[in-house]
Amino acid sequence: MTKHEIQTDRLLLRDWRPEDHAPFAAICADPDVMRYIGNGAPRTEDATARSIRSFEAEWAERGFGLFAVELRETRELIGFTGFSWPGFLPEILPSVEIGWRFAKQSWGKGFASESASAALSFGVDELGLSDIVSIYQVENTASARIMQKLGMVFDRRTIDPTCGREVEIYRLLQT
Ligand SMILES: CC(C)(COP(=O)(O)OP(=O)(O)OC[C@H]1O[C@@H](n2cnc3c(N)ncnc32)[C@H](O)[C@@H]1OP(=O)(O)O)[C@@H](O)C(=O)NCCC(=O)NCCS
Repeated sequence: MTKHEIQTDRLLLRDWRPEDHAPFAAICADPDVMRYIGNGAPRTEDATARSIRSFEAEWAERGFGLFAVELRETRELIGFTGFSWPGFLPEILPSVEIGWRFAKQSWGKGFASESASAALSFGVDELGLSDIVSIYQVENTASARIMQKLGMVFDRRTIDPTCGREVEIYRLLQT
């Protein structure tokens, strides 16, 4: 399989490894992390392991996916950023979604913005993605701020049919 890797000042965005399972399960078991994702429920270890398999399958089958994000200084897995197929929201297909999720102890340090900006450039320049959106539940203002910092613009407000929660869509306008 092709290796996907991006280095930024402080972070390494890379393919998933078996040793990521435990730290990623800890991230997704935290109710504060999961608060604005789907119905807001924290994930079990089994569900998290299935998620990692689905991220790997997406890279293999669609040619884009979510990167594991590692802190270069400590080599610790702190979260993910990258691309996914937003099948849960059929009205925006075939757009591809850019998203992020980080461990609570790493919030507020610019890691989400730093990694998402690098992933977005990679998606456009290397993966050739031309229709990119981002989706957040309306109370998740930190996520909205990242979209704005990435230069994305408001597209619409709608309902996530899988959980009934209100979401906003931001879109990358490409020339
Ligand atoms: C969303 C998330 C990735 C943001 O992480 P972060 O470390 O705070 O992100 P960054 O430090 O890169 O930047 C966030 C920006 O939002 C701002 N911000 C953070 N919290 C905010 C809040 N509660 N209200 C408004 N703005 C906020 C920050 O100031 C920063 O903007 P700035 O650079 O102009 O100051 C993190 O909170 C997270 O992982 N949450 C759980 C998973 C999740 O909700 N993912 C997104 C689903 S759409």
